[in-house]
Amino acid sequence: MKILVTGGAGFIGGNYALTMTKAHPEDTYVVLDALTYAGNLETLASIMNEPNFKFVKGNICDRELVDQLFAEEQFDYVINFAAETHVDRSVEDPGIFLTTNILGVQTLMDACRKYGVKRYHQVSTDEVYGDLPLDRPDLLFTEETPIHTSSPYSASKAAADLLVLAYHRTYGLDVTISRCSNNYGPYHFPEKLIPLMISRALADESLPVYGDGANVRDWLYVTDHCTAIDLIVRNGRSGEVYNIGGHNEKTNLEVVKTILKALGKPESLIHFVKDRPGHDLRYAMDPTKIETELGWKPEYTFDTGIQKTIEWYLENREWWEHIIKGEYQNYYAEMYKDRN
Ligand code: NAD
Ligand code: TYD
Repeated sequence: MKILVTGGAGFIGGNYALTMTKAHPEDTYVVLDALTYAGNLETLASIMNEPNFKFVKGNICDRELVDQLFAEEQFDYVINFAAETHVDRSVEDPGIFLTTNILGVQTLMDACRKYGVKRYHQVSTDEVYGDLPLDRPDLLFTEETPIHTSSPYSASKAAADLLVLAYHRTYGLDVTISRCSNNYGPYHFPEKLIPLMISRALADESLPVYGDGANVRDWLYVTDHCTAIDLIVRNGRSGEVYNIGGHNEKTNLEVVKTILKALGKPESLIHFVKDRPGHDLRYAMDPTKIETELGWKPEYTFDTGIQKTIEWYLENREWWEHIIKGEYQNYYAEMYKDRN
């Protein structure tokens, strides 16, 4: 089988390509990635020369390029990880989020229809459900929870989900959608909470916690997300949405304190800063459907996963130091300048 992995030079798509080229040596994986600020070929270095792997640089919104690629490669499956993904960036500049996250999905699905691709899988997010109150720990997002978005990022992902389901109903395209909770693990770009806090704590820099740090996220180790997607693509039912999560709810403050403790750094590094506008209070997934229908189970708890992640950042300094020494410095100065 030949599988297109868009956005495979990013965090989750990169982990997917690294894991699946090994798990399925009989299948060929082609990564299509525009190499935006979030894309990094160093992530894929260890598989670049594998016989069942190929990298193509290109934008999912580029119809001509996408058409040509689909004509040449005749993919069996398409898995779309490519997206603009950082909520804070979407607050600053929503336009590119709408272009990539919605129109890019249209371009890919049009090519799937034209070239008879067996299945299109959309990698979506729990953020399409909006947020849950902090004082109702009994409430979880199910696949039936209404779409109710807060940020331009989540609105663009929700729009894409609706478009995917519309292509299924209107054109009979075979589609599946996965909605996962917050991921963490190796190769995570250091603008996101966990790698940002690890890299800054290691440099004894202040750790910017938004608001009072009480917001809750439901954390999943990235390879557990990858195995869930693989199961859905191969065995999931067409036209269905599957929630993915491992019941690992933590407040942001708990996450930051765990990182400080593991690194032997003082809590005095924590710095409470101005909150994110529209900041979602709590995400929490009910993964019963994927567990019962497809037999998926996460391998890692938060405790084992965060330990593994911290070790990776300690052992792979080059990967992230390369990033934070570049354009990232301007990003950080600009994004955090009004938060103090
Ligand atoms: P990321 O920002 O690390 O990587 C995105 C990748 O997409 C980058 O390699 C980038 O170069 C590429 N890309 C961006 N625009 C492109 C375009 N127009 N054409 C081709 N490539 C393009 O993101 P991630 O965290 O790996 O997220 C991957 C997917 O998973 C996204 O769809 C995201 O919405 C979803 N998701 C992420 C999380 C999370 O916690 N990170 C949780 C649930 C779902
Ligand atoms: P983030 O990693 O941006 O993921 P998302 O917003 O998609 O959940 O943020 C995770 C949580 O951490 C979120 O509640 C915002 C918070 N946060 C901070 O407190 N400080 C930071 O510097 C960042 C980047 C995030």
